[in-house]
Amino acid sequence: MTVRKVPDVTFRTRVRDESIEGPNPFRWEDKTTADFFGGKRVVLFSLPGAFTPTCSTYQLPDFEKLYPEFQAEGIDEIYCISVNDAFVMNAWGKAQGLNNVKLIPDGSGEFTRKMGMLVAKDNLGFGMRSWRYAAVVNNGVIEKWFEEEGFSDNCDSDPYGVSSPQTVLEALKAGEAQAA
Ligand code: BEZ
Repeated sequence: MTVRKVPDVTFRTRVRDESIEGPNPFRWEDKTTADFFGGKRVVLFSLPGAFTPTCSTYQLPDFEKLYPEFQAEGIDEIYCISVNDAFVMNAWGKAQGLNNVKLIPDGSGEFTRKMGMLVAKDNLGFGMRSWRYAAVVNNGVIEKWFEEEGFSDNCDSDPYGVSSPQTVLEALKAGEAQAA
């Protein structure tokens, strides 16, 4: 079986730094694929955009709520990635009151492109974004893969189900191993 790994990229994150005075105490912090994925078994899910309705109402809050159940299945972290910059992802995380799920900004779309999941969403005025998918990733190796059907540019619908937290959790509980 071919081993499929997540691509090596550098993510430009913004982190709070109390040593910075003023109303915006944040600085850039580069994090690599190895920082996020090295030596951990994680769930990664990717979606078309921060603040969009399905992502904000179902997918992200449900992953957040179900985090203890994922932990019980041997998952160390849950990461949500989107082709949005660090400012947008931080604002979305704050609005969602996240404690469990960690947001990864893929502002340039490099990670998503190298995953083969970058699609045009010009029909919504979004530009290039991620197709919806989720994966279980063990030390950088994709162990299970959950991709919504109909991968395409300018899709006129937004399929959601295969990459839902409930589906991923069920597969982990059943020990199913989808081909990566
Ligand atoms: C949604 O999450 O509902 C959504 C995602 C992309 C485009 C429009 C809506």
